[in-house]
Amino acid sequence: MAAEILHVVGTRPNFMKVAPVIEALQKKNGFVQRLIHTGQHYDINMSHVFFEELGLPLPDASLEVGSGSHAVQTAQIMIRFEQALLQQRPDLVLVYGDVNSTVAAALVCAKLGIPVGHVEAGLRSFDRTMPEELNRLITDQISDLLFTPSADGNENLRKEGVDGERVHLVGNVMIDTLVRSLPEALKRWPALQLSLGLHEKRYGLITLHRPSNVDDLATLSAMVAAVEEISETLPIVFPVHPRTRQRIGSLDVNRTDARVSYTEPLGYLDFLALQYHAALVMTDSGGMQEETTYLNVPCLTIRENTERPVTLTMGTNDLVGTNMALLKERALRICSGQTKHGRVPPLWDGHASERIADVVKAYAEQG
Ligand code: UD1
Repeated sequence: MAAEILHVVGTRPNFMKVAPVIEALQKKNGFVQRLIHTGQHYDINMSHVFFEELGLPLPDASLEVGSGSHAVQTAQIMIRFEQALLQQRPDLVLVYGDVNSTVAAALVCAKLGIPVGHVEAGLRSFDRTMPEELNRLITDQISDLLFTPSADGNENLRKEGVDGERVHLVGNVMIDTLVRSLPEALKRWPALQLSLGLHEKRYGLITLHRPSNVDDLATLSAMVAAVEEISETLPIVFPVHPRTRQRIGSLDVNRTDARVSYTEPLGYLDFLALQYHAALVMTDSGGMQEETTYLNVPCLTIRENTERPVTLTMGTNDLVGTNMALLKERALRICSGQTKHGRVPPLWDGHASERIADVVKAYAEQG
């Protein structure tokens, strides 16, 4: 009988991670797959557009939990997901990344005794003030299969006492999606270039959405002011996350000489094309630190730490923290041509999801 695999996703970065895994499992015989969308992200440009662009199947169920405090959101996902699991019990649940949907689904599975696999396991920022760090720690402790993107993940899990037999170093599934999507993304460039008035390698791209950066108005205001200053040297595109949008409107920072294009959140393909041609990326996102390393585009990460250290040691990433003077200095240095040369980390080769499918197949055959 075919083993049933249930994928659970909820937020924008989850969609890029699940797509290649579904595809890789489809190519193996013997699996029935279902997809549940928790509804943590629900805007068209935070969710629907990704399903379309990534060729994801429509979810078999949408839990429509929406926004709320961490406790409310996590609890709502648990309550609704448990109902779904009780109706149809899968053989294995796969959860992705480090968002509230990830930990909520993993906890429900663990309590019902349903095996759960965590894709993107083992990453640690060692900063427990980040909600994602708590989500990672808990998800990894209760998962039966842990798929790590890089060797530091295995090392972190070993130190936390996780049984090595459960841990599989498979590489980075985000990069699988990037590799597959890049040709299509680059077809978007001429239209994007025209609408935003950009030239290859002569603009910067910024995103900000971490609560620690955007929830406090004074902090966000200092960041936007720095970005506007940098834009006098390098025009900047700033797709604004909904969380950031809630606050950015009340800022009074618009310099008359600033060259910042504020846009709505963009789809995956447009955004990938923008990263590819950027001279510089500034971000507090996790995934973009990886994508820029793969694309060999300089990245300044506006955080004090990263759970993706391989992007610093091997890649093009540089941590600038929340020191805006340092951000400006590093940005101007990159504009003057002083860039860090990176290498692509091992197993970030477009085949991570196939390795996951191999492990899942062996796991299912063992019963
Ligand atoms: C979540 C993840 C974060 C991930 C990010 C990617 C957690 C703890 N955080 O953060 O790790 O990097 O997604 O985007 O899971 N909102 C909308 N429309 C939407 C979704 C959200 O307007 O489609 C607004 C809501 O008002 C909400 C706020 O954005 O309160 C934040 O959304 P939420 O899902 O709580 O967390 P993110 O900041 O998006």
